[in-house]
Amino acid sequence: MSVVLAFDVYGTLIDTQGVTKTLQRHVGELAPEFARIWREKQLEYSFRRGLMRSYQPFSVCIAQSLDYTTSLLGLSLPSSTRDELLQAYRTLPAFMDARAGLQQAADAGMRCFAFSNGAGDAVEGLLQQAGIREAFEGVVSVNDLQTFKPNPDVYDYFLRSSKGEADSSWLISGNPFDVIGAREAGMKAAWVKRSPAAVFDPWGIEPTVVIESLAGLVAAVKSHS
Ligand code: LAC
Repeated sequence: MSVVLAFDVYGTLIDTQGVTKTLQRHVGELAPEFARIWREKQLEYSFRRGLMRSYQPFSVCIAQSLDYTTSLLGLSLPSSTRDELLQAYRTLPAFMDARAGLQQAADAGMRCFAFSNGAGDAVEGLLQQAGIREAFEGVVSVNDLQTFKPNPDVYDYFLRSSKGEADSSWLISGNPFDVIGAREAGMKAAWVKRSPAAVFDPWGIEPTVVIESLAGLVAAVKSHS
């Protein structure tokens, strides 16, 4: 049975901090803090919507958390700037190591999927503009289930969609909550710890492997297969 890799998108393949440059033009030195709060709040909104069973597409979480962050920081942005920032989020760049890491996985005969909170068309567009869409056999979106990671149903749905077995299927993610969700659902998981300062949640549920970048992915997966 070939190894199946489920790549998380935002924060793993696609750099959510890539919006900082656009933010700098509008909010100056507040840009890094704005980008961080915006990202944290959009995830909080996805968690809360999942718990409340009040689903809206991830694009709504992104837009509403943008408005929250603007208000929190005491700013007021014209609607043209709001549109520009949302457009920047639809055209975020891939991390430097994404393309080569995906190519190495394909060369090793591993089946690669994108697996995201983003709706299918949003993820397709994001991967295409970042120039990495062709690396994937398919895109699996939680939108089909109208809930979000880390609901265990979405990891089961990934396994059904990819026709992978849990013990040869890996989640690849920079997001600890996603890694813990996949491990709980019986998948293997690689945590991409891009920053030495990143901390994993102390829940007693560990990643199968920890890698610093996608360059180390294939070797790490092979060593546990
Ligand atoms: C995703 C979010 C979790 O792409 O980053 O699914």
